[in-house]
Amino acid sequence: MEKFDMAVIGAGAAGMMCAAVAGQAGRRVVLLDHAAKIGEKIRISGGGRCNFTNLHAAPAHYLSENPHFCRSALARYTPRDFIGLLESYRVGWHEKHRGQLFCDVSSESVIHVLKAECDAGRVSWRHPVRVHDIARGGAQARFTLSTDAGAIAADALVIATGGLPVPKIGASDFALALARAWDIPVVAPRAALVPLTFSVAEWAPFAELAGVSIEVGIQTGAGRERGAFVEDLLLTHRGLSGPGVLQISSYWTAPAPIDIDLLPGRDAGAELLAAKSTSRRQLATLLADWLPARLAGVWADVAGVPRDARLADLPDRTLRALGQALNGWRLHPAGTEGWRKAEVMRGGVDTRALSSSTMEAKSCPGLYFIGEAVDVTGWLGGYNFQWAWASGVAAARAA
Ligand code: FDA
Repeated sequence: MEKFDMAVIGAGAAGMMCAAVAGQAGRRVVLLDHAAKIGEKIRISGGGRCNFTNLHAAPAHYLSENPHFCRSALARYTPRDFIGLLESYRVGWHEKHRGQLFCDVSSESVIHVLKAECDAGRVSWRHPVRVHDIARGGAQARFTLSTDAGAIAADALVIATGGLPVPKIGASDFALALARAWDIPVVAPRAALVPLTFSVAEWAPFAELAGVSIEVGIQTGAGRERGAFVEDLLLTHRGLSGPGVLQISSYWTAPAPIDIDLLPGRDAGAELLAAKSTSRRQLATLLADWLPARLAGVWADVAGVPRDARLADLPDRTLRALGQALNGWRLHPAGTEGWRKAEVMRGGVDTRALSSSTMEAKSCPGLYFIGEAVDVTGWLGGYNFQWAWASGVAAARAA
């Protein structure tokens, strides 16, 4: 049996960060993963350039049943800290949009940095390896892991196996199953940052618009669970995608509607009435100044107004109703594209069962949960990796 101070299961973003920091603090660390190729989610993230953090990361950008839980870890490992780490390896980066930072060349740079940091901490690797069983309270250490590569004993056990999205690259329910088996509560998981789908009947008029993209205001939910964003929306064959929809999907629960403002910041009804009094244009031509032309045409069809109708010939009440529909397009999603297409998991190990400063389970000394396995879900835009880094560092410093 091999003995370590810390065993980390899951060599993704949070696990590699945790293992590296603990190793560099002098702990004997072993890092295990069932995948042959590690860091796959980092590799595919941000279109291959990894949106590795967000300059504005703050608790308000995270969803959790316990919204203050993430505060301590995020305050103690900030976006600046991660930028400093990348810069110490001369990794070039740039800001794309609203504080979102991407690698200049490739997300491989982030994987390379994390592996090098693990090497600097003399971390031992075991992968691909399966962990069959974990026993508590052995003679040699708090935890004994039975694996394909033999037994491993460790006083600290960090679970960093991530969430359920994208099973084909190694996602599993390991963290949730372990928590449940050891009586640690779990907030029911659901797909988040995921495209929304509609019934065939509701989507039939819009299916031909696949590929159309437009900046919109989009909102759903109420109270603490209200999400509202001004971001791009993308129409697809089955429904809606694009950053605005991914953001709102994290707040959406069936059967709630979502409301879309196709002309955010403008009063469409007032502008249509003003245009009626000053112009002799056709409705569809005017709408095409405001919306992508294909959408403008379908919009007139759905409203039951002939595309060649002149504004001057339309009653005021029709224009007001059209304006209201443009500012408040209400849709009822039928569901989401699910784990195959989700970027993150909402829910996870219930944070009320964990220490917010160390990620240690209150009922099981020496056991830590970090990263996406925990009920902390960030917005789109680098917030989820920042949580992975920060929660990994919090556990590493404590264990
Ligand atoms: P992560 O999933 O990174 O790692 C978990 C590790 O555990 C994996 O290596 C897996 O093989 C291993 N594992 C799982 N089950 C196991 C088991 N039973 N035994 C052993 N090992 C096991 N976020 C962001 O901030 N910016 C971005 O640009 C993107 N882009 C993005 C694109 C796509 C397509 C997806 C799917 C996701 C993103 N994300 C993102 C989200 C981000 O990838 C995610 O939040 C982090 O990778 C979570 O880090 P973790 O370390 O918690 O899990």
